[in-house]
Parts: sequence; C-alpha cells; structure tokens
Amino acid sequence: MKKWRCGVCRYVHDGDHPPAACPKCNAPAEKFTEIPAEESALIERARRTNHYHVELLALLEEVKTIAELGLEDKLDPPCVSLFQKAIQSAVELRQAIKAELLGHMQKGKWG
Ligand SMILES: [Fe+2]
Repeated sequence: MKKWRCGVCRYVHDGDHPPAACPKCNAPAEKFTEIPAEESALIERARRTNHYHVELLALLEEVKTIAELGLEDKLDPPCVSLFQKAIQSAVELRQAIKAELLGHMQKGKWG
C-alpha cells in the first residue's frame, strides 16, 4: 500500500491517495508527498518491530506481577530468590525496551 507523508507535521497516511486534510495538523492534500517504496517497506518493518516491543512490555509487566505474588508467599529461599530475579530482570528489560522505543521515535522510526 502507498504511503504519504505530511510535509508540515510528518504524519504518515496509508492509502492510494493522500488524505483531503492531514488528520494531525489539518494541512491540505497538496502538502503530502508519496513515500518511496523502499522507505515505505522500512516503515512497515519499524511498525512491526515497535509492535513487538509493546507486546513485550505488556508481558514483562505480567511477569513482574506474577513474581510479586510468588514473593509474597515466601515458600522457601530459592523461590524467593527466583522471584526477586524475575522482578529485577523484568524491570531492567522494560527500561531497555522503553529506551529503544524512545530512540526509534527520535530517529523517525515511529510511523
Ligand atoms: Fe500534518
């Protein structure tokens, strides 16, 4: 599918034609330019990867919640140690993913 970029705010529109007006900044259709096929394919890949990162963020939050429940139960020291490690790893991975996503946004890989 073709993609069009707003020359005012960089909004990316998917479709055979540019929108009549930019949904973000209301610029007219003439302000849109078609994004070349190679760049368009890169935008699709970036969207897919960003989606994976967001899915991982949700799963890691679930890992943290479950590990906190296990920690509350305190069945035995090895279990407590594993739950503490799970929480620590989930928190660190979430922070790393957020930093990566911020980098994507700053590099324009968020379309
Ligand atoms: Fe715009």
